[in-house]
Amino acid sequence: MTAIRPLVAGNWKMNGLTAQLAELQALQDRLAGHPVEADVLICPPATLLAQARWASRGSEIALGGQDCHPLQSGAHTGDISAEILKDAGATAVIVGHSERRTDHGETDAVVRAKAEAAHRAGLIAIICVGETEQERRDGKTLDIVKRQLRGSVPAESSATNTVIAYEPVWAIGSGLTPTPEDVAEVHGFIRAELVQLLGAREAGRLRILYGGSVKPANAKELLSVKDVNGALVGGASLKAGDFDEILSVYRGGKAA
Ligand code: PGA
Repeated sequence: MTAIRPLVAGNWKMNGLTAQLAELQALQDRLAGHPVEADVLICPPATLLAQARWASRGSEIALGGQDCHPLQSGAHTGDISAEILKDAGATAVIVGHSERRTDHGETDAVVRAKAEAAHRAGLIAIICVGETEQERRDGKTLDIVKRQLRGSVPAESSATNTVIAYEPVWAIGSGLTPTPEDVAEVHGFIRAELVQLLGAREAGRLRILYGGSVKPANAKELLSVKDVNGALVGGASLKAGDFDEILSVYRGGKAA
């Protein structure tokens, strides 16, 4: 089997005034001097996408959105479509992040419709799944992840247009992380579920990211776990230095 090229995605969330673009520039400078054997994606607020496209031109840094509406266009005030994101320079979009599922009541069906919209627009859909603290305590982690995968992953998904991000809700922004054994269990389970949903060929090549309090100090341990094909990074993606340190895991063939 050919090795899966990792993806490290930075999710800036609702952070990023124009001045934040300096961090993108700084990241670009670091990557130019020290390339990584991974795809690098930054998902800034949508308002910064067009400027970020200019700031990162000529670099390896790809840009993504943080959410999209299922429809292509229309009377949906405040929403943004996958096509608009693509037009602004995005090549990917995060869908079903737990903050969207919680803050906006997004169901698995809504998340699937958004992933389908991403595919329609020619964007990679990064579909997030993960259990809450209570669900983990109740021993329901795999049930929840299974339900989310079955409900959120479109039937036509492929390894080229889809990425799964496993993000335990309790690990996001908390400084807490699952043990490498727990990560391995869930990622192995996700891979097996994807075989059921998409067939062995696509499932074997599809990237499964870990997300939730990934920092320079724990990146190597988390990213070395079997079936972890990169990371979705929130807080530590806001500073080029921190993000670059995480990316260093993929310098010089250090990680799997
Ligand atoms: P965090 O966020 O790295 O700040 O925990 C991860 C995410 O929500 O994608």
